[in-house]
Amino acid sequence: MSSETITNIPVHVSMIMDGNGRWAKERGKERVYGHFEGVESVRACVEAALETGVRYLSVFAFSEENWNRPQEEVTALMGLMVKAMAAEMKALDKNGVRFMVLGNRERLGDELNAEIDSCMDMTAHNDALTLIVFLSYSGKWDILQAAKKMTAEMAAHPERAEEIMNMDVNGFDRYLVTAGIPDPDLIVRTSGESRISNYLLWQSAYSEFLFVDTLWPDFRKEEFRKALDSYAKRDRRYGKVK
Ligand code: IPE
Ligand code: IPE
Ligand code: MG
Repeated sequence: MSSETITNIPVHVSMIMDGNGRWAKERGKERVYGHFEGVESVRACVEAALETGVRYLSVFAFSEENWNRPQEEVTALMGLMVKAMAAEMKALDKNGVRFMVLGNRERLGDELNAEIDSCMDMTAHNDALTLIVFLSYSGKWDILQAAKKMTAEMAAHPERAEEIMNMDVNGFDRYLVTAGIPDPDLIVRTSGESRISNYLLWQSAYSEFLFVDTLWPDFRKEEFRKALDSYAKRDRRYGKVK
């Protein structure tokens, strides 16, 4: 299917990439093998996003809760992040992709943080597609850090307290780590689970959801395009009568 046949393209598509472990288990392999293969799916989705005109693609790669996994898996995942970023960045830059990592960066190691900074600096000027990797992220953590930021701003600038107190929901957006990024139009979760697992809680207020049985390592271009087709048929009413 060519991009011309797809109408009503979402601006921001977000992926809850789930099922890597089960994908590996089905093949009698270690869980990390599934994570490794999952990187290929991210690459395929980036290509599909560029081809279809999606402007923001975000992926949930590691939640705050995922720190509670066995140390061995956490270490393998963090190592994979560094390697994948280093390996993919030149191609991403060449294709006009702006790369970002959002989440609780304080919990990431020095090596990973240095790689993230270098990739973000290198691609900051690109505007064909923004690829956001949510790393050490959770929705409740984001809302809490936003509230703390707001309170600190009030304490530092008492003269602005009234303005802040009168703020509307859009004003609160700028304290979230996603400040300046449009809310996801479509959130896809793979692997048959129908939950949000503490992902973009505030930002998903009016997102369309799609839950698919496909395991993340099998989610490639065709699945991405099918997700866009599903989105194109949705009627977003935002509480109004149409
Ligand atoms: C998603 O796959 C990747 C991460 C959450 C890091 P999982 O590792 O959760 O795979 P399953 O759900 O156990 O199959
Ligand atoms: C959600 O997957 C988090 C990411 C995709 C990074 P999990 O596998 O951690 O979610 P649960 O535990 O099934 O809710
Ligand atoms: Mg999972």
